[in-house]
Amino acid sequence: MEYSNVLLGICIFVQVITKTGHSIQEAADLLNKGQLVAIPTETVYGLAANGLDQDAVSQIFKVKRRPLSNPLILHFKDLNSVSKYVSHIPTEAKKIAQEFWPGPLTLLLEKTAKIPNSVNSGKQKIAVRIPNHPDTLKLLALLDFPLAAPSANLYGRVSPTKAAHVSKQLSGSIPYILDGGMSSKGIESTILGFENGKTILYRLGAITTEEIEDCIGEKVFIYDHNLISDQPITSGMVNYHYAPQTPIYDIGDISKIETIANFGYIGFNKTIDDVPNENQFLLSPESDLNIASKNLYHALHYMDEKQFDAIFICNFPQIGLGRSMNDRINKATAKYKK
Ligand code: TXA
Ligand code: MG
Repeated sequence: MEYSNVLLGICIFVQVITKTGHSIQEAADLLNKGQLVAIPTETVYGLAANGLDQDAVSQIFKVKRRPLSNPLILHFKDLNSVSKYVSHIPTEAKKIAQEFWPGPLTLLLEKTAKIPNSVNSGKQKIAVRIPNHPDTLKLLALLDFPLAAPSANLYGRVSPTKAAHVSKQLSGSIPYILDGGMSSKGIESTILGFENGKTILYRLGAITTEEIEDCIGEKVFIYDHNLISDQPITSGMVNYHYAPQTPIYDIGDISKIETIANFGYIGFNKTIDDVPNENQFLLSPESDLNIASKNLYHALHYMDEKQFDAIFICNFPQIGLGRSMNDRINKATAKYKK
């Protein structure tokens, strides 16, 4: 075999060694070199790269196996840095940003040419957010570029809320996971856009619709994704998403339970009868939606490792965070709905 072919063979089989650690400086050094780093945020962990470097950004799509048509969020350290990369911030957007940033909120704003088109898949608007996690804010302060970062999971799978969840899906593909503990919110940011003076909700998330309406003093418009189901604007709008590997059903699909012997149950505050306690995961025995939301993805990751034939999951009251969690549960169970 020729020497060059041997080298090619070695290169194909060389995997990146993934280190998990707490060094913000090490994360910054790698990002400065155009490499990918998983970063903690209060919502979910992100798979980050220099958002101004096309090559680094293209690695995100490759590692995540995400379609290039699905735009990324840019993460900034403060509002002043955001304003350098967008051409206009509408008045309602400013009001909402002042109330909720740093925090679990993403705004779609008019982009300038400073941002490569690959970050937002050639769209006019760029998704921007200031995350509220002390390590990631320190990291952003060390860098002179914003971080492009989708959730640090393989496309369509459950988002990670712990460093170990990232390592399970991305170990061998990225050099560093910055461990910042368990994400405090546990569900992705709420995505809002602004058209003709209206505030439009594109993705339910960690900030509730009620909180946004209180802030702006009027109703938000819910984007009707059924009108564009062939070409979702945000991946959260794809019908099958946020899914574990084990088949997952809504507990409402009660007829299924009779046909499956070995299943786990993820509930809100009450266990169900005739199922061993060790096969059940209660998200918040004290009935707190904030705690349930923090635990939701962790429960999905945990139950997915238990080798059940199926997982059944509860629904939440359609208020506040309950609505955001129901959205994710609907998407996770969509594939198995009749
Ligand atoms: O909480 C979060 O938002 C996390 C953390 C890491 O910040 N990030 C996250 O990113 O959830 P990702 O890529 O998994 O989801 C971002 C969503 C996608 O559904 C994407 O389609 C949508 O935002 N999005 C991004 N840019 C957009 C744009 N210009 N127009 C419409 N949707 C956009
Ligand atoms: Mg995601």
